[in-house]
Amino acid sequence: MDGAVPELPVHALEVLRRRRSAKWQTYPADVLPLTVAEMDFPLAAPITEALREAVDRSDAGYALPAPDLGRALEGFAASRWNWDIDPGSVTAVTDVGVGVVELLRVLTRPGDAVVISPPVYPPFFDWVPEAGGRLLEVPLARGATGWRLDLAALERAFATHPAAYVLCNPHNPVGRAHSADELAALVRLARIYGVTIISNEIHGPLVLPGAMFTPLLTVPGAGEVAVALLSASKAWNLAGLKCAAVVTAAPGMAAAVDRFPADTRWRIGHFGVIAAIAAFTAGEPWLDRLLATLDHRRALLSDLLSQRLPMLTWQPPEATFLAWLNCAALGPDNQAQERFLDHGRVALEPGLRFGAAGSGYARLNFATSTDILDQATARMAESAG
Ligand SMILES: Cc1ncc(COP(=O)(O)O)c(C=O)c1O
Repeated sequence: MDGAVPELPVHALEVLRRRRSAKWQTYPADVLPLTVAEMDFPLAAPITEALREAVDRSDAGYALPAPDLGRALEGFAASRWNWDIDPGSVTAVTDVGVGVVELLRVLTRPGDAVVISPPVYPPFFDWVPEAGGRLLEVPLARGATGWRLDLAALERAFATHPAAYVLCNPHNPVGRAHSADELAALVRLARIYGVTIISNEIHGPLVLPGAMFTPLLTVPGAGEVAVALLSASKAWNLAGLKCAAVVTAAPGMAAAVDRFPADTRWRIGHFGVIAAIAAFTAGEPWLDRLLATLDHRRALLSDLLSQRLPMLTWQPPEATFLAWLNCAALGPDNQAQERFLDHGRVALEPGLRFGAAGSGYARLNFATSTDILDQATARMAESAG
């Protein structure tokens, strides 16, 4: 490691296998799971302390997120991104998925078109119909320097007046942190054509060295047309605790959030709120260690892939701990992913789950130990023949 930031440790495989979460329970014991976006690092100390104290208090009742969650997020956003959030504009929701669906319910009408940009996190395809909307796909553009928003295609789609666009910033699975210029162009289009942007910023804290995260609501003029969703769940590995935050920056959007069903406030994880507050107020040093560790894993993966699997191509992500691997040399659809699983006993996410553009791709989660990455790439190479 360079500098003073030590890497985060990872427990040995047999210890990880004792975890009861989805990542570690889905596959038989001989499979290395590099699938769902859970990390293998131990939790940050301020979070384990806050949760332990809550258990010691027998404090397992209903959550009351306001005002502390908003204040904690305000402090974190100011320190990390120089983003001035009004804590009163922060509304807790169960998780980002629930937040997107509830936002679509209040911001669109049944049958309205809602734009998404595949390849994208699979539930994007489900959230829109769940809220009664109709999907309008505007795929990312794939250029020499990686995947980008296709602003020209988005303009053509916005000109048909869809009700909303669900943005993924940073974008899972390609790991792109959309630039301030791209987001300014997007906001301009949203204002011209009257399209509301729901900005899913769950991976915002996970922007790696070399790139920058631009919260959409910091773009001038965004507040009137956009709403953001943030969470501590990806960056501090808290997905099972169930807490995310909707943030608004203009009265019209705040009024829309006020129309959420009253009961949503009782559906938030109390431990999720406690952990999120600990993460946002005291979790930055750990986050810095995480980002330094992920930066090294990204470089290690790059070396391992070029040595052992030179037929795969990828653009190392600017954000997230997810590698979007072009495995087309091993076959279309999910053929490579199936081969890695069946013959190599390494589980990756199948590319087609992320939309038709994912044919020939697989997504690899590199938030794990150097040992596991070493073993996984060796087994993938062997299975690739
Ligand atoms: C882009 C994106 N949105 C949402 C989620 C899930 O978030 P939550 O569990 O808060 O619904 C994930 C999980 O990986 C994700 O990558």
